Amino acid sequence: MRRVFKTSSFRIVISFVGFFLVSGMIVTIVTGFHNQHLFEREIRQVVTNEGEETFAAAGHPDLDHFLPVVKALVHNEPGFFYLLEDKTQTIVAGNMLHLRPVSGPRWLSWSHRIPRPPRPIIVYGEGYQLSDGGYYFVGIDASRLHQLRRDLWCTVAWSSVAFIVLGLIGGILLSGAVLARIEAISVTARSIMNGNVMRRIPLQGTDDEFDHLSHSLNVMLDQNQALITSLQQVSNDIAHDMRSPLARLRHRLEKSLERESTMDAVKENISLSIDDLDCTLETFTSLLSLAQIESGMQREKFVHVDLVALARNITETYLPVLEERHQRLDVSLPTKAMILGLPVLLRQVFANLLENASQHTPQGSKIMLGISVTKEHLQILVSDNGTGIPDVDLKRVFDRFVRLEHSRSMPGNGLGLSIVRAIIQRHSGTILLTNNMPGLRCTIDLPRFHSS
Ligand SMILES: Nc1ncnc2c1ncn2[C@@H]1O[C@H](COP(=O)(O)OP(=O)(O)O)[C@@H](O)[C@H]1O
Ligand SMILES: [Mg+2]
Repeated sequence: MRRVFKTSSFRIVISFVGFFLVSGMIVTIVTGFHNQHLFEREIRQVVTNEGEETFAAAGHPDLDHFLPVVKALVHNEPGFFYLLEDKTQTIVAGNMLHLRPVSGPRWLSWSHRIPRPPRPIIVYGEGYQLSDGGYYFVGIDASRLHQLRRDLWCTVAWSSVAFIVLGLIGGILLSGAVLARIEAISVTARSIMNGNVMRRIPLQGTDDEFDHLSHSLNVMLDQNQALITSLQQVSNDIAHDMRSPLARLRHRLEKSLERESTMDAVKENISLSIDDLDCTLETFTSLLSLAQIESGMQREKFVHVDLVALARNITETYLPVLEERHQRLDVSLPTKAMILGLPVLLRQVFANLLENASQHTPQGSKIMLGISVTKEHLQILVSDNGTGIPDVDLKRVFDRFVRLEHSRSMPGNGLGLSIVRAIIQRHSGTILLTNNMPGLRCTIDLPRFHSS
């Protein structure tokens, strides 16, 4: 029983019944009292009018003038009660028993003053003192007013029953509808906890608050799931990527321990191992910086950067490398291209893309670096006429550790493009790889900074 009291459905039903009952009662009682008030005002008005008419018909406020008028009224107006008494309080005319001569409005109960009433009667009337000591009273049957009062409490009692029943039905329907939706959410949550991670909250298509809540929760679950999957992927990738250099390292150390290995061979092994370790350390550094960029840099550290100056600077650094591979670099830059960002990271974008264009293309290939400025955007274009990337892999190469078959022999860790994409996204830009026929074309769009 206690548990029932604690449930939300019980509370909703009780609140609904209470609300229905109270508001229903208020409406019924206020309407009842208002009707009574109107009726009472009407009775008073009728009595006052009748009194005034008697005075007008009599002409003079004394017994002699009133007598014929009252006699005629008793005869002609059966709905009214009249009484005319002289100064000795003897009844002279009328259809009532004796009354004490009190002037002003009066309520009389039936046991008083009405001969042979057909039923219990309440009379409302007004008394007037006449100029010669006489007394005139005119009244009307006001029993309906009392009947109205009695009926009101009866109506209140019956309508409370009706309101309770309606409240119960309404409350049960409402709590059923509301709690069923909440229950659907908790059923889904339990199911997900039990391992059905792909389960989602069903939408009703009603576009109401519950649908909005369910939709938001579903989106949140999707995002969490994507995050968990990518985390699993990353840890798998890292483990996978670290395996080969460590295995190689172990193999070389083992070899060096062999008795017949010469000093030169040992030195050679150590030097190769150091190279491998450097590579591994570099990968760790790249992974850390990638995680840092993806976790969101503080935008307040952003400064105004001229991409043209940055590009000029970086091409100069890369010229010797390109010359060594007999590669040509064509540069097409505007005078200025301002953006808000972090120079160190933007520099890395150019460096990684130029390095790729040089490293993953054959000797003698042509590389092109361009920046163009439109009203709202800046576009960076890096292209080459090398082997390019097959269409199916154009998206995949952004993932961590992805290196295509033709690049396996080259130095690198497959994190370069992941880092470029993370940096561009942090600068609210987009990056797209397309086929340059032949070669690869990388197009970057960044929002332009207006210095006005
Ligand atoms: N300009 C390019 N031409 C051909 N292939 C490329 C080019 N740039 C990148 N790739 C391919 O995309 C892969 C991922 O590039 P990246 O993330 O920079 O890793 P890494 O350069 O360390 O291999 C490269 O291994 C290579 O296979
Ligand atoms: Mg690279």
